[in-house]
Amino acid sequence: MTDLKLKIIDKLENGDYISGSTLSEELGCTRSYISKAIGELNDMGFEIESSKGSGYRMIHAEDVLDKNKIIENLHTKKIARQLELFDSIDSTNNYAKELASKGVAGDGFVVISDCQTGGKGRLGRTFVSPRLSGLYYSFVLKGKLNIETCSLITAAAAVAVADTIDEICNVETKIKWVNDIYLNGKKICGILTEGQVGIENKQLDYAVCGIGINILEPREKFSENLENIATNIEKETGKRFERNLIAAKLSDNLEYQLDNLDKKLFLEKYRSKSNLIGRDVIIHYNNSDRDAHVLGIDENAELIVEFSNGETLHLNSGEARIIKNGLLV
Ligand code: BTN
Repeated sequence: MTDLKLKIIDKLENGDYISGSTLSEELGCTRSYISKAIGELNDMGFEIESSKGSGYRMIHAEDVLDKNKIIENLHTKKIARQLELFDSIDSTNNYAKELASKGVAGDGFVVISDCQTGGKGRLGRTFVSPRLSGLYYSFVLKGKLNIETCSLITAAAAVAVADTIDEICNVETKIKWVNDIYLNGKKICGILTEGQVGIENKQLDYAVCGIGINILEPREKFSENLENIATNIEKETGKRFERNLIAAKLSDNLEYQLDNLDKKLFLEKYRSKSNLIGRDVIIHYNNSDRDAHVLGIDENAELIVEFSNGETLHLNSGEARIIKNGLLV
């Protein structure tokens, strides 16, 4: 969102009419700039009425991602202290990786976008990321990171997301191993961690963890297939929550969990919030599907499963699909 658009929204927020000339005087730009920016805001989903005699009036304001509001609510030392916001981007993970590899994005760098045109999910899937509805958030981690740490980062991030949503939205989320956050039996968030391995030291040069949370009802409904498995917080609670506050709280919670990664503070909650432990599932692993029963989650956040032949395995990747009343969920 450009500065000019944010300022226009600020001025119109109380719903009163303001004339084009007052706006252009107070914001120090021409009336045609104002009119162009208002047209663009309307295209984005705001409803700003224009009347010949009275000027402009906001009828319907959207929850705008605003860097200052996020920073005002941050309590971190590192996470999101270097912060970039976009209206639209292909993928926040791609952008964070690019900047991390060039050395521009330091430890704790965060990029957030209002929408993504090429949002990426795990296992090569796309992550549908419509505008004015979700939080598409990636952070960079640098420092001593070995490859095993990557799965711990994902698990710690899952706990940080779950805590954030529970605290702000007064709900009780569940975590579906490895990295999905569920509300009322449907997915509201996915996490994708990527990294670059240094050839010499076999350590990660950096890790990028991308978090996509479905917060508000999108203007265009998800496809029927997606609607069956995914939802958003507004739909489940009937309430609209401010994405800026969620972004700030998420950063606070991420910092807490990451600062305590060595102590594995996240593990207890990661286990207690699991919606897989004790259930029959289908495990997709090494390109095949197998029936299994979930026994627990080990010290490395790996899923402990028992197959029908009695064999047990600790999984550090793959996917588990829940079997409920004979159906896959
Ligand atoms: C999954 O559910 O499979 C993981 C989804 C991860 C989506 C987030 S949105 C922010 C970041 N940018 C991306 O392209 N993907 C992640």
